Amino acid sequence: MVPAGNIDTGDDGNQKFTPDAEFSAQAHLKSQEDYETLYKRSIDDPEAFWSEVAADCHFFKKWDRVLQWNSPFAKWFVGAETNVSYNCLEHQINQGRGDHTAILWEGEPTNQDGSPKEVVQLSYKTLLAEVCKFANGLKKLGISRGDRVTLYMPMIPELAIAMLACARIGAPHSVIFGGFSAQAIADRLQDADSHYVITADGGWRRNKVVPLKSNVDEACGMTKLVKKVVVYKRCGNDIDWNDERDVWWDEVVKGMPDTCDAEHLDAEHMLFLLYTSGSTGKPKGILHTTAGYMVYTAYTAKLIFDLQPDDIYWCTADIGWITGHSYIVYGPLQNGVTTVMYEGAPNEPEWDRFWAICERYGVTKFYTAPTAIRAFMKQGPEWPAKHNLSKLKLLGSVGEPINPAAWHWYHEHIGQQRCPIVDTWWQTETGGVLITPLPGVTPTKPGSATRAFLGIDAAIVDKDGNALEPNENGLLVIRKPWPGMLRGIYGDEARFRKQYWSEIEGVYFTGDGARCDEDGYFWITGRVDDVIKVSGHRLGTAEIESSLVSHPKVAEAAVIGFPDEMTGEAIAAFVTIKGSDKPDSNLKDELRKHVATTLGAIARPKDVRFTDALPKTRSGKIMRRLLRELATKGRVEGDVTTLEDFTTIAQLHKE
Ligand code: PRX
Repeated sequence: MVPAGNIDTGDDGNQKFTPDAEFSAQAHLKSQEDYETLYKRSIDDPEAFWSEVAADCHFFKKWDRVLQWNSPFAKWFVGAETNVSYNCLEHQINQGRGDHTAILWEGEPTNQDGSPKEVVQLSYKTLLAEVCKFANGLKKLGISRGDRVTLYMPMIPELAIAMLACARIGAPHSVIFGGFSAQAIADRLQDADSHYVITADGGWRRNKVVPLKSNVDEACGMTKLVKKVVVYKRCGNDIDWNDERDVWWDEVVKGMPDTCDAEHLDAEHMLFLLYTSGSTGKPKGILHTTAGYMVYTAYTAKLIFDLQPDDIYWCTADIGWITGHSYIVYGPLQNGVTTVMYEGAPNEPEWDRFWAICERYGVTKFYTAPTAIRAFMKQGPEWPAKHNLSKLKLLGSVGEPINPAAWHWYHEHIGQQRCPIVDTWWQTETGGVLITPLPGVTPTKPGSATRAFLGIDAAIVDKDGNALEPNENGLLVIRKPWPGMLRGIYGDEARFRKQYWSEIEGVYFTGDGARCDEDGYFWITGRVDDVIKVSGHRLGTAEIESSLVSHPKVAEAAVIGFPDEMTGEAIAAFVTIKGSDKPDSNLKDELRKHVATTLGAIARPKDVRFTDALPKTRSGKIMRRLLRELATKGRVEGDVTTLEDFTTIAQLHKE
């Protein structure tokens, strides 16, 4: 085994892994001094700093001003005109990368010997041609600048093509994760007032067809908003067809020219909406705009993954989440590298699928989630050991805290003690990574996302906004605007102000608890609001509760997250039922299924418990803390003096 640079144990007892000298020597940023100097400059003079960073991107018209900050509203690169699709395509081709592979895709189905049945490689030139054809097709359907287009697709190249086509003509996309249900699609269509949907007949997942088109049909029936549904033929499964509304992808692109000028869009033109969960029942449409997001994703991808021209970069996220938007599509393509896409499950046909893919294409940079790592750990190191992973140079982690045991396993069995690990902290709202090691620079401590990225003023404060001392637990806030930040919640300015900018006066509140150690390293402890992270997927307790109470037998429900070895957190639902019927295990299953049908399988509670009453305060607020204690420790030990009816706890103990 090659040792991972220097390993030492610091005063705090944490092991520190210093970057390998060979890696640092070839990296964009090579030393702590590089980082400290740039960081200082980025904070002291952000406008000059971001202006220099943006010089790598292409603008049709340069900005008049870098930042206009009227808290909580930021405008970046004010007055500039650009196009993200142009930056991902022509701007790369103009730098001589036209024949280089942009997207390398593998479908899920395999042959007997485990080799993939379908592989698609699209060069930057071919991708441009495909994007242009589809963009022209969208225009012909009547879609134009400003129209919100909903994408509900499997992980196939056409999803990236559709996003880039929308961005090209200035039609904001709203991608919905393929695991969401018809009701979730309908809610998002309605909120975005979106009249156009792009989908596929189905997508492959664990050797089964996910019936995407039929979910869209059902959603369309619920809203009546949708004028056109474009359908890509992926699986050939049977689908219903509405002649007036539905049109095949192939028909849309048939005869379309393969050139389409990118629209010159204002820097603050809406690039996309992405719905995510918050503390109320209604998902929020996080709004990102053009130039700031473009510059931020390009720059963070370049430095954090240390992207170099010949990298084969693979982020295993689904494009339905922000990670896929920023670090499968927009970030890597703006750096001219090859971005790998895989359609299906990590264990199809066997538990070594990811490692087979890494070996097959010589993946150099690999980015995944702690949940996946824990699942691989459980299967054992013999699966990665079957494959040659010697091309890997860097590993990344995202979506939830990575526990040190998973970090070490990843480091040893995937990175072979050679690859730096970047544990990247960020959110749908932040557009790109805010806290992370820089691979050639930052000594890492397993379990810490380490330091703030350039230009990011992160701090730990108490609820009154006072900065805390090292190692004190508090709330994570960002004190200065950054280019990739969300610009709002679609159609809900009041919620935007309240959720992010009012909890703690004058700063962006992340919703995360954290502490910062004496080296300025951030340790994220998890959400402090009613958001749960199950396998890195973000869910609101209120959404699950409203799904439960929509079941005819449920009177009241309280949902909490509790620690789970595999999924990080799991969902427990405490439910009171109507009438005097005795609930049984059939009803438990029925309720779990009900949530999966109304919201999507990822929201299915692991545990459902029935109770005659929920523990409440005298003012009627559900005491979730007690429920959390019960689910975690199996009993309530904490302070119960504000509880209105003590018998509820006794009864819950009996359950
Ligand atoms: O709690 C933090 C956790 O994920 C939340 C954001 O979720 P989402 O918007 O779905 O975006 C996930 C992908 C960027 C955060 O508020 N989180 C994300 N990354 C990390 C993390 N927690 C700890 N460590 C991380 N690296």
